[in-house]
Amino acid sequence: GALIVLAILSAYLFGSISSAVLVCRVFGLPDPRTAGSHNPGATNVYRIGGKLPAVLTLWFDVLKGMIPVWGSYFLGIEPFFLGLIAVAACLGHIFPLYFHFRGGKAVATALGAMFPVAWEMALLLIATWILVFRISRVSSVAALVTVSLAPFFAYFIKPQYTVPVIMISLLILWRHQSNIMRIRSGEERRIRRPQQPPD
Ligand code: G3P
Repeated sequence: GALIVLAILSAYLFGSISSAVLVCRVFGLPDPRTAGSHNPGATNVYRIGGKLPAVLTLWFDVLKGMIPVWGSYFLGIEPFFLGLIAVAACLGHIFPLYFHFRGGKAVATALGAMFPVAWEMALLLIATWILVFRISRVSSVAALVTVSLAPFFAYFIKPQYTVPVIMISLLILWRHQSNIMRIRSGEERRIRRPQQPPD
């Protein structure tokens, strides 16, 4: 009992560390909460600062999901609670304790949380994201399609995680409200293809 409560609490506190804000500070970039899409996530850090800060943000946000679930898995915590620990890490990212509860959309953190317990599904979701991104060049469209499919993938590949996956998918969809409005009005920004060097 106590171990599970402690694991859920640590996952939330861990998820609360805003990689995007910290990476932007280190690189001397504008605060991602007030620049670009105003979202503290890898996509917006890419808009503001380019590839390296974005990759670091992505990686730290993935670790925020991965480390608590991995740790809890090795402590022998059951699948049902591992699911709740994953949700807690995502809630930390979305409502960060140390950043006035103004966090991101939890796409990377959710992916990280999935790796230790359902790596096949994590790879399938990455492949889906990349495919949709290649077609659309819009990060939010890739995320929206991917998280909408995630509960179905879970149901067939890892049925014991279907409920937490639905919870996380709903959270992520809800956090994309502003993106959905921009997509509908045609204002959502594409990420430009990297420029070909002139020959
Ligand atoms: O993962 C977040 C992404 O789906 C959207 O980010 O900055 O375009 O709102 P952004």
